[in-house]
Amino acid sequence: MFLKRNKEIEIDYDNLPEHIGIIMDGNGRWAKKRGLPRTAGHKTGAETIKKIVREANRMGIKYMTAYAFSTENWKRPKSEVDMLMDLLLNYLKDAERLMHEDNMRLRLIGSPNELSPEIREQIKHVEELTKNNTGILWNIAINYGGREEITHAAKELYKDIENGKKSIDDITPDDLEKHLYTAGQPDVDLLIRTSGEQRLSNFMLWQVSYAEFWYTDKLWPDFDEQDLHRAIADFQQRGRRFGGV
Ligand code: IPE
Ligand code: IPE
Ligand code: MG
Repeated sequence: MFLKRNKEIEIDYDNLPEHIGIIMDGNGRWAKKRGLPRTAGHKTGAETIKKIVREANRMGIKYMTAYAFSTENWKRPKSEVDMLMDLLLNYLKDAERLMHEDNMRLRLIGSPNELSPEIREQIKHVEELTKNNTGILWNIAINYGGREEITHAAKELYKDIENGKKSIDDITPDDLEKHLYTAGQPDVDLLIRTSGEQRLSNFMLWQVSYAEFWYTDKLWPDFDEQDLHRAIADFQQRGRRFGGV
């Protein structure tokens, strides 16, 4: 009997996306399909992101942003929100060792004010510990919303004007960009969303202006390294024009 080999996914390592954004969606549906509570999906989903970041780092991807909790996710039942926050804290405790061992950097994007003091402190601690690492910069988006981010940046810009650091007539998009949570990082090149949904759900509204979208019906806990390779290989076939010809 002959076994059919998986078709090799060819990746051009000289043309990797610099920044990959991931909307990790479908944890609840994954659990439901198995008759498990939604929280089981979130637990497995947390394991998935660990392996995907590790693989992206191994491949030489420089920036990755994963959407873990949106400013709108507070609308969920308190029990689910509490469980997600516990899971995030545990994840961040693990990340301390995992990220540092693999030379990766962690950064929070999102508004920290509504997060618990423990989560805020743990994030600060891991950000500080990993800041001089030279591998992938991994942004974890918690209490993140694109509109909140832009509003926050606009407020900061207003302060610059009030302090006389900037004059209103000189404001450019670059000035606003400097106050985003991702200041100094390149825009998202490739945006991946799992679970078959084809929407942004308030993710990185500014940074995805020229991103290539890649969707899959797979639910996030089932996403694996091969899927990441598929998305990248597909990205490499796209003709990006940025408004030119
Ligand atoms: C994504 O999975 C994780 C978070 C939003 C925290 P969901 O929890 O949205 O799963 P579905 O979309 O209900 O299946
Ligand atoms: C987006 O997923 C947020 C995260 C993945 C953290 P949602 O499941 O919250 O988005 P909608 O509600 O389907 O748009
Ligand atoms: Mg969802």
